[in-house]
Amino acid sequence: MALYSEKVMDHFRNPRNVGVIDNADGVGEVGNAKCGDIMKMYLKIDDDVVSDVKFETFGCGSAIASSSMATELIKGKPLSEVKQLTNKAVSEALDGLPAYKMHCSVLAEEAIHSALDDYYSKHPEKKPEEE
Ligand code: FES
Repeated sequence: MALYSEKVMDHFRNPRNVGVIDNADGVGEVGNAKCGDIMKMYLKIDDDVVSDVKFETFGCGSAIASSSMATELIKGKPLSEVKQLTNKAVSEALDGLPAYKMHCSVLAEEAIHSALDDYYSKHPEKKPEEE
């Protein structure tokens, strides 16, 4: 069996939503101290929905594929769903990652949550009550 799924290879070779959003409503940057990879997410939010998302990833192929897939999973989605995004959902959407590459999908989850936190810190009135 190939080490990486076709979906991983596709999102690595043709990553979706690469770039920067000027005047993004939320920006999140995270890194993994062990491998040194860095991921930055930009969110544009309208009426509690992710109307646009872009990313920049300085990292391995799995990190690039994970960020690309994560942006596809949250684009057009309400923030209530975006908040629930897990690295497991990202890796499943990619048809799996090798165990030692799971941390790459964790980076995508963290980058999106960090961008969301940034948005809520600028718009505390939008933050939903904790259940
Ligand atoms: Fe660190 Fe992939 S090896 S994010």
